[in-house]
Amino acid sequence: MQVLIACHSDYGNTKKMAEAIAAGTRAGQPGATVLLRSAEQTSLDDLRGADVIIFGTPVHMGSMAWQMKQLIDRAAKLWMEGALEGKIGGVFATGGGFGGGGGGVEQTMIALYSNFLEHGMIVIGFPKSLPGYADGGLQWGPYGRSGNHEGMPAGVTDAALTSARSYGAHVAEVAAQLIAV
Ligand SMILES: Cc1cc2nc3c(=O)[nH]c(=O)nc-3n(C[C@H](O)[C@H](O)[C@H](O)COP(=O)(O)O)c2cc1C
Repeated sequence: MQVLIACHSDYGNTKKMAEAIAAGTRAGQPGATVLLRSAEQTSLDDLRGADVIIFGTPVHMGSMAWQMKQLIDRAAKLWMEGALEGKIGGVFATGGGFGGGGGGVEQTMIALYSNFLEHGMIVIGFPKSLPGYADGGLQWGPYGRSGNHEGMPAGVTDAALTSARSYGAHVAEVAAQLIAV
């Protein structure tokens, strides 16, 4: 199984979440090959070659970072080809805005899913029974808050990284079952 995890990260928080998802994916499917790429370095061939594609982004002004959107727009060519149809997708995000609510995170994750569904991909959410969900999970995927209530940098918590690992393992396990069918 080829897993591609592509994200943007300015300050390293989203990348840490990506690394935790990668670790979980390897734990869930020890035979999996996991490729971790920045959104800007991700090539169309990386996308073509993956069985599982996981996209992550910091929330920027209530939506995804432009680097992630640029990757999505570059990949429009693959929509024309139907090249991503039937592939398995997952998402994650980080936010750090003022307060504890994480303004914009859900619509950011849903926007990533919307793109996957447009490609005809199969998307895998995050069931609440999995480890780490209560502290770092949304039904869409794992979410890390990198800022404190005053909007100052604090770093994603260990709990968020636990949820990311847990989600990575879950996606890999479900993907293995789907690929085997
Ligand atoms: C231009 C910009 C806009 C941002 N807008 C939001 C926002 O709308 N909501 C939010 O929760 N965090 C917002 N943030 C905080 C980022 O989500 C936070 O810095 C991110 O989690 C850091 O991830 P990174 O270390 O991977 O770059 C914004 C940050 C930047 C730089």
